[in-house]
Amino acid sequence: MIWGIGLFIIAVALLFFFWFFPVFFNGIPWQPTDMKRVRRMLEMAEVKPDEVVYDLGCGDGRIIICAAREFGARAVGVELNPWLYFLALVKVWVKGLSRRVKVIFGNLHQVDLKEADVVTIFLYSHVNDLLQEKFQRELKPGARIVSYVWVLKNWKPVAVDSEHDLYLYVKNGAGW
Ligand SMILES: C[S@@+](CC[C@H](N)C(=O)[O-])C[C@H]1O[C@@H](n2cnc3c(N)ncnc32)[C@H](O)[C@@H]1O
Repeated sequence: MIWGIGLFIIAVALLFFFWFFPVFFNGIPWQPTDMKRVRRMLEMAEVKPDEVVYDLGCGDGRIIICAAREFGARAVGVELNPWLYFLALVKVWVKGLSRRVKVIFGNLHQVDLKEADVVTIFLYSHVNDLLQEKFQRELKPGARIVSYVWVLKNWKPVAVDSEHDLYLYVKNGAGW
C-alpha cells in the first residue's frame, strides 16, 4: 500500500516536472489548442498540399497531424517534453502518417525553419519576442505564421480572427 502511494507520488511529480521544465528553455508548459482552432489556424494560413508546416512546441501532435490529414501538408513538430514527444510520435505512427509527419525531440529555438511554408505557435509573449529575430533570419519570403493568443510585437498581422484569438503574419507581407 505504502509502496503504491509512493510510486503514485513519484509518477505525479515526474509528470509535473516534465510538464513544467520547458520553461527553463525559453518555453512554456503544455496547454492543447482545441481542434476547432487548430483547423482555423491552418485555414487562415491557407495551407496547400505538400507545403511544409512547422508547429513549434507541438504537444501531442494535433496540429501537425491535422495539417497532414486534412490539408495534405508535410508537417514537422518540435517538442521538448519527452512524454509529449513520445505521444505525438505514437499518434503519427498509429494514423499511418510517418512519411508525411516528422516529430523532432528538441528545443524549438534550435530548429532551422528555412524549409517552412507555415509556422504555427501557441507560446507566450516573451517566447514570441525571442522568436521574431529567428523568423526574420530563417523564414523564406511569403512564409506564414499563425499565432494563437499572443501577437508578434511591432508586426502588423495581415489577418486577425478575434473570435478565435488568432493572428496571421506573412513574411515580407504588409506590416512585417
Ligand atoms: C501551449 S502548448 C501548445 C501545444 C500545441 N502546439 C497545441 O497548440 O496544441 C506549448 C508546447 O510547447 C512545448 N515547448 C515549450 N517550450 C519548448 C521549447 N523550448 N522547445 C520545444 N518545445 C517546447 C511544450 O512542452 C508544449 O507542449
